[in-house]
Amino acid sequence: MAVEQRTGLGVPGDERTVKTLRERAFAVMERAYAPYSNFKVGAALLASDGSITEGCNVENAAFPAGICAERTALSAAVARGNQSFTAILIATEADEPTPPCGMCRQVLEEFSPQMLVISATRDGREGRWTLEELFPKAFTPHSLDRR
Ligand code: THU
Repeated sequence: MAVEQRTGLGVPGDERTVKTLRERAFAVMERAYAPYSNFKVGAALLASDGSITEGCNVENAAFPAGICAERTALSAAVARGNQSFTAILIATEADEPTPPCGMCRQVLEEFSPQMLVISATRDGREGRWTLEELFPKAFTPHSLDRR
């Protein structure tokens, strides 16, 4: 049975799925720990099995020890047993949709190079890209085979 039939989620671009991802991402954004940048980010990651895992940015007094929302979500999803993803929705309080940072692009690429990346603002603006578009010519697990 198709993922969409089983769970009601799983077709990455359909509006009902995007609405659910948006709600989950904005909810988790409120729990971000971002006292240094004051830039709270929430991420809702849709796995191929239709499950959603959230993440938020968690900063640290030792600044480089902080982690982005996308990588928090990805790590939590892998810990739940998911390694295949179809979409991620990123929620911020910025005026314009913000794409993921380079390190997050690299980390997402490892698992699902074709995933849909959606960035949303509170007032409903949206950016949509494929990860391939955002991160062409990536260093991937296959790159290590060329030794
Ligand atoms: N941040 C994310 O969590 N995701 C992004 O896509 C961009 C940046 C975080 C890192 C840091 O905690 C704060 O936003 C400012 O850069």
